[in-house]
Amino acid sequence: MSISYNEREKIIHLQTNKTSYVLQITETGHLAHIYWGRKVDTLNFNNKSIIASSSYDILDKELNYDVIPQEYPAYGNSDFRNPAFHVQLENGSTICDLAYVSHKISKGKPKLINLPGTYVENEEEADTLEIDLLDKLTGLNVVLSYTIFNELNAITRSVKFINKGKKNLKLLRALSMSMDFDNDNYDMLQLSGAWCREKHIYRRSLVPGSQSIESKRGMSSHGQNPFMALLSKEADETHGEVYGFNLVYSGNFIAEAEVDPNFNTRVNLGINPFDFTWLLEPDEVFQAPEVVMVYSSDGIGEMSRTYHKLYRKRLCRGNFRDKLRPILVNNWEATYFNFNANKIEHIAKVGKELGIELFVLDDGWFGKRDSDNSSLGDWTVDKNKLSNGLEDLVKKINDTGLDFGLWFEPEMVSPDSDLYKKHQDWCIHVDNRLKSQGKYQRNQLVLDLTRKEVCDYIIKAVSDILKSAPISYVKWDMNRGITEMGSACLPAERQRETAHRYMLGLYRVMDEITSIFPNILFESCASGGGRFDGGILYYMPQTWTSDDTDAIERLKIQYGTSIVYPAITMGAHVSTCPNHQVGRMTSLETRGNVAMSGNFGYELDLTKFTELEKEIVKKQVKNYKEIRHITQFGDFYRLISPFESNEAAWIFVTEDKTEAIGTYVKVLAEPYVPSKRIKLQGLNSKYKYEVIGYDMTLGGDELMYIGLDSTRFVGDFSSIVWRLKKVK
Ligand code: DGJ
Repeated sequence: MSISYNEREKIIHLQTNKTSYVLQITETGHLAHIYWGRKVDTLNFNNKSIIASSSYDILDKELNYDVIPQEYPAYGNSDFRNPAFHVQLENGSTICDLAYVSHKISKGKPKLINLPGTYVENEEEADTLEIDLLDKLTGLNVVLSYTIFNELNAITRSVKFINKGKKNLKLLRALSMSMDFDNDNYDMLQLSGAWCREKHIYRRSLVPGSQSIESKRGMSSHGQNPFMALLSKEADETHGEVYGFNLVYSGNFIAEAEVDPNFNTRVNLGINPFDFTWLLEPDEVFQAPEVVMVYSSDGIGEMSRTYHKLYRKRLCRGNFRDKLRPILVNNWEATYFNFNANKIEHIAKVGKELGIELFVLDDGWFGKRDSDNSSLGDWTVDKNKLSNGLEDLVKKINDTGLDFGLWFEPEMVSPDSDLYKKHQDWCIHVDNRLKSQGKYQRNQLVLDLTRKEVCDYIIKAVSDILKSAPISYVKWDMNRGITEMGSACLPAERQRETAHRYMLGLYRVMDEITSIFPNILFESCASGGGRFDGGILYYMPQTWTSDDTDAIERLKIQYGTSIVYPAITMGAHVSTCPNHQVGRMTSLETRGNVAMSGNFGYELDLTKFTELEKEIVKKQVKNYKEIRHITQFGDFYRLISPFESNEAAWIFVTEDKTEAIGTYVKVLAEPYVPSKRIKLQGLNSKYKYEVIGYDMTLGGDELMYIGLDSTRFVGDFSSIVWRLKKVK
């Protein structure tokens, strides 16, 4: 690993243990992107051969920027592709020309300003390159930052804009990265969906023109995740070249791949320029969020495992990062708003009998919230439901032997609330315009987190409750997209900063609250996985993956989520049947088997279980306690995709390869199917493994190369979990 500079060729070479990333300062002082891919040890090529001959006509007096692979392209020159940034001067012009000034290589990784990002725990873990670029005419200084993680094979990029001139500048587009590929022979992979259908995998061939995914919802969104990858045509889980790009950000974003007339491909990622501008007064700095880039020459699986490791170890933070996560029971699908202290205590008592460790009281405990149309913002306990108050309830739950967790939706206000009566202008809105608050906005408004006093209110209101009782877990929900984006506090020329300022406010609030309560485990949620992104994971190490708790729907949702995010970040619960979202009937075993591949819990009325069901659940809970170190901290290998077949399979393997958990689900039963084997991955071919509970010992080579039989499954939605342990 290293970052080196070849002064003669003006080439900067970043090397992780498996990848190389190369850039060059051109003769004109611009930054060209040369290479990102499989590691090369030493670079021997010279200046002229690097920029493809089509782009460099020796007889021409100028470079044709349209065909030069660039590192951070500007707008206004002979490059007609989408630029990485776009800036408006006071005279109205929007042309800019960034030239190289200097660069600096240092150990470690500096923090981004007020934004989440990956980090190091000691300086030896990573090296950072910062390149200073300047537009001489305006004094706009752009700093490109690159960090390479030695062990983790990832490269992060981010950008800072500093106005070193004397006049105001307006950023119209300020993306976090841009990268030019010298061909279009790729597929684009994206994670798209909707509420209850998050992160389904889509793969399409690149075509000329721009293909993009984005969010304009004020949240990273259920619709699109801030992630895309380019895949070589033959790439699959285990083979082929894969280039992953993930924006560590929770608001509006764009990720685009543009194929130009010369069949070059430009990838751009960052804050969505739609309805965004940022006024940069002299000496002001704008920090763009971080992109985590992962290259794999061994397929999509290897890329995912790199993201997983990096995010588990150096994006998620806090006391719970390396701790086993508790098994919880949440009362949402058990009671919705209709509960009282007795009911809650009863569920917790049964939970204890079954071995569950944490009770989570969901929505409905505050104000007069008997439905979703009141009380958000009034964070005081509803004595009609909890007559002896929260402290008393928590004590009773603790006395039962369970920890206690509580639901909040701190970013919201109900029009029917005391808070709204007092502060009508505290919500995101534009004067004299509708404030959308229909069914799809869940009858609520979004607090204006661009305002300091609003953020302070949230910090105090949430903290007061958290201090009032021994609460050990918080579910932080967020249930609507942001409409009528505008702030009562920002001047006209800064209105289009609202969406990003909202995120800055949110990150500050999350940072302060999680710092005041380091011993509370925070799980984020946005109607399920509407804000499942690296930005939030920096503050809260787990996320409720989807409001869809049906085991079969969850196959695709969890499989898709695993493309970037590790299982330890995914909440996954067993719910009742018929399932509340899709009405499907599945066995308790299969519901358990699927949920055990995430942060396991139950979300149903435990008091309604039959004795037989209780016995099954007791076993599940016991089993999960024995295997969670493998699923939460192990390496993850996808084996069979539910998007491509009538079945799904994956395996978790501990780092030392001595233990593994394999899951297989057959969706619909089929008669007379040809014999088929599930070939496991990630094991040590030389080890012998006991298949626990099946009286079988098999070699790692047999399990991976010959595989396990999958034809004996009968009945719809049948499943199995294999537990493998190395024989000593
Ligand atoms: C949406 C969440 O995703 C659900 O789990 C639940 O907490 C509800 N909100 C409560 O309003």
